[in-house]
Amino acid sequence: MSQRRKITVVGAGNVGATCAQVLATRDYADVVVVDIKEGLPEGKALDINQMGAVLGYEPNVVGSTSYEKTAGSDVVVITAGLPRSPGMSRDDLVTTNEKIVGSVAREAIAQSPGAILIIVSNPLDAMCHVAKNVSGWEKHRVFGMAGILDTARFSTFIAWKTGASVKDVTAMVLGGHGDQMVPVVSATTVGGVPLRKLVAEDAIQEMVERTAKGGGEIVNLLGTSAWYAPGAAAAQIVDAIMLDEKRVLPCTAYLEGEYGIDGLYMGVPVKLGRDGVEEIIELDLGDEERAALQASADAVREVVGVLST
Ligand code: LAC
Repeated sequence: MSQRRKITVVGAGNVGATCAQVLATRDYADVVVVDIKEGLPEGKALDINQMGAVLGYEPNVVGSTSYEKTAGSDVVVITAGLPRSPGMSRDDLVTTNEKIVGSVAREAIAQSPGAILIIVSNPLDAMCHVAKNVSGWEKHRVFGMAGILDTARFSTFIAWKTGASVKDVTAMVLGGHGDQMVPVVSATTVGGVPLRKLVAEDAIQEMVERTAKGGGEIVNLLGTSAWYAPGAAAAQIVDAIMLDEKRVLPCTAYLEGEYGIDGLYMGVPVKLGRDGVEEIIELDLGDEERAALQASADAVREVVGVLST
């Protein structure tokens, strides 16, 4: 019997498998991958374990179509649901994925009543509401991954534009995980220098636009949603919790008055540690950014309004 702690990833599709793969290479916990498709989680788990022999991490991934093996997980990552096809918005998935996310959340939390739940399925903000409603858990234990991915896209474009290392780009994308997301340009720096000192406003706006549509750009190229960056972004949240890192990262958290928004999941900077969302950080936004965040909240509210519960 392994003495290591346990992470469950629900969904052995592209995003789930990538998340499991990144976590396996981190080598501090066992990973259980669950999927309804017979053979898929078992096959992915075998493959990821065998990669350990090449890269030098311990085989620690279990694949299963049942939730029994997930029992006692510290963290559960939910990636299950349909991905986008070309021409679809994330919001088009709401009814189908509400059922899927609701049912897998129920099964997972029955096995791991003390876990922290990280939602990755789209439409992300609405699926966080589903998970919170189904679990009834406190808000610090139920939240979503979107901002890290959106920020990674913005940072990548900035690094290319400025010729800087992406490691020296500090950026933050807030709001809902949709076309109205809000890259906070006022808080974006490259090596400590404000982005607006380095790049002309029209070029910044182009990068903002490309970031907001960044998921769709990949859907159009691949015919399905992205997975490398999304999977790695989910794994980064797991790291911050499991290793109690106290990192400040943009996550989709339940707001109760912060940023003037009440009763809604939205992307904001949060402090992540062993208790999940340990603090919501309120940035000093400019008037324009604050208005953009409100517009993004309105868009999220509209999708949440489509949920059956
Ligand atoms: C994206 C999808 C996964 O942004 O929401 O790529």
